[in-house]
Amino acid sequence: MDLNLTDEILKRRTFAIISHPDAGKTTITEKLLYFGGAIRDAGTVKGKKSGKFATSDWMEIEKQRGISVTSSVMQFDFNDCRINILDTPGHQDFSEDTYRTLMAVDSAVMIVDAAKGIEAQTLKLFKVCRMRGIPIFTFINKLDRQGKEPLELMEELEEVLGIQSYAMNWPIGMGKEFLGIYDRFNKRIEQFRVEESDKYLPIDENGELAVDHSMKQTSYYTQAMEDILLLNEAGNNFDKEKVLSGDLTPVFFGSALTNFGVQTFLETYLQFAPTPQPRNTDIGEEVSPLNEEFSGFIFKIQANMNPAHRDRIAFVRIVSGKFERGMNITLARTGKNFKVTQSTQFLADDRETVDVAVAGDIIGLYDVGNYQIGDTVVGGKKAFNYEKLPQFTPELFVKVTAKNVLKSKHFHKGILQLVQEGAIQYYKTLHTEEVILGAVGQLQFEVFEHRMKSEYNVDVRMEPIGSKVARWIENEEEVKESMTGPRSMLVRDRYDNYVFLFENEFATRWFQDKYEHIKLYNLL
Ligand code: G4P
Repeated sequence: MDLNLTDEILKRRTFAIISHPDAGKTTITEKLLYFGGAIRDAGTVKGKKSGKFATSDWMEIEKQRGISVTSSVMQFDFNDCRINILDTPGHQDFSEDTYRTLMAVDSAVMIVDAAKGIEAQTLKLFKVCRMRGIPIFTFINKLDRQGKEPLELMEELEEVLGIQSYAMNWPIGMGKEFLGIYDRFNKRIEQFRVEESDKYLPIDENGELAVDHSMKQTSYYTQAMEDILLLNEAGNNFDKEKVLSGDLTPVFFGSALTNFGVQTFLETYLQFAPTPQPRNTDIGEEVSPLNEEFSGFIFKIQANMNPAHRDRIAFVRIVSGKFERGMNITLARTGKNFKVTQSTQFLADDRETVDVAVAGDIIGLYDVGNYQIGDTVVGGKKAFNYEKLPQFTPELFVKVTAKNVLKSKHFHKGILQLVQEGAIQYYKTLHTEEVILGAVGQLQFEVFEHRMKSEYNVDVRMEPIGSKVARWIENEEEVKESMTGPRSMLVRDRYDNYVFLFENEFATRWFQDKYEHIKLYNLL
C-alpha cells in the first residue's frame, strides 16, 4: 500500500466528547481548536450561546433555543496528528443522533464537573461507549472552583460507572487555593496561574518537589502527596492495554476556562488514543483501515443544513482507504453506483469542499434521498455491509396525526423519510393503525414537528402519551392481544415486529410475572 496513505491514516485520531450539559464541553473544545490553530480566538465557539457566532444555526429551532441540535465535526492538526472531534449535542434533550455519533469514533473524552461528579447524561453516553469497548479518557473540570474531594471523584467513577481509573495527574488544592497539578505521568508539577516560564517544577526520584518552593509548606501539597502515596500503593496500575480495551480510564484534572491542564491532557491523550480501528462486516471479516479500497458507513443524515438549498447531507465515517472527490462509489444496500461530485468536510461548521479524505475522517455527501442511516458505501466492486448500527430503546412517546386530514399523503411521506433518516422511531397501533413516535429525548419531537411543517408543509398534532418502557419479544408467536391491559399497549415497529409499551418498570415486572413464557428484551 501507498506509504504516504498509511502514514496519513495512522495520523488520525477521531473522538467525541461526552458530558452532561454545562460540564465544560464547549469550553474545552474551543481550547483544543485553539491549540490546533483551527480558530484564532479561543472564544469563537463559545460565542454561539450568546448568538454572536452562529456555528450551526441551520434550523430556527436552534436559534430560538440557543442550542446546537446537531452533531458537527471539527478537524485540526496537533503534534503531527490530525484530530477529528465529533461534537455531540450539548443539551439535556439529546437524541439518538448523539448515541449514533459514538458509533463513528475510536475513543471518547468524558468531561466531568468536579463539583457535580457523574451526572445523568454522562452516564447514558458512557454506557454506549462501554458497549463498544472504546477507550474513554476522563477530564475532571473546573478545579478553579471548590468541588468534591478528588479521591471521592475517583471512587465515584469506579462505583457509578464501574470502570477502573488511573489518575494521570492530581490536583494540589482546589478553588481559591488551587495551586496546580502533580503530573504523575510527565513527572513534574504544573503550577496554576504563574508566568509561563515558571509553570513547571521538577520532582525528584522520591516523587517530591525537587526544588525549594513555598508550595511545599502548604497543607494542600501535603494532602496531595498523601493522596498520591495512597494511589501508588492501593490504586490501579497504569495499563495501556486496559486503556485501549476501554477497561481503564486515565483521569486528568484541570480547568478548561482558565486553559489549565488542557494542553497537557491533549498531549498525553495523543500518546494513547487509538488510531483508526477496523470494523466488522456482515460477511464476518474485519476491514482494516489500511485496506486500500475506500469504504465507510453513514451514521448520520442531516437535512436542511442550509434552508436556502434544502439539502441533505449524509455523514460518512471512512473506515478504510482513501476518498477522492469525483470517484465512483457503490451503495451496498441497493448496489447503485454513482460518482461523487459534491462532498464536504466540516470545520466548526464552516463547510468546505473536500477533495481527499482517509480512514478515520468524516465526510459529508450531498444527498437527494439515496442514503439511509447505517448504509455502507464502498469504492470497489465488492459490496458488503458494515455491522448494523444499533437501535436505541426510546423512552418517550407521542401519538401523532395531521391536523388537516387532506394532508394525509404528505404526512405519511414526511414520516417515512424522517424515520429513514433516523430522526425519530415509528410505531403503529394494531387495528386502528394510529402512528406513535418514539424518541430518546424530547427535542427529537420538536425537531420532527418543525421539519414536518417546513419541509412537508404539514401541521401535526402531537398527543404525549408519556414515557414508556418499550420491550421487544423474542417469541412473538406466543403473544396474544388479550395480554394487553390499561398499563400496557401492544404496537408494531417499522419492521412490523411486536413491541409492548409498558407504563413503567413495575408494569413490566407485573406482566413478566404473569406471562413468564413471553421472552421480552430491550434494545440498547
Ligand atoms: P457545555 O458545553 O458542556 O454545556 O459547557 P460550557 O463549556 O458551555 O460551560 C458551561 C459553563 O461552565 C460556562 O459558564 C463556562 O464558562 C463554565 N466553565 C467551563 N469550564 C470551566 C472551568 O474550568 N472553570 C469554571 N469556573 N467554569 C467553567 P456559563 O456562566 O454558563 O456560561 P458563560 O456565561 O461563561 O457563557
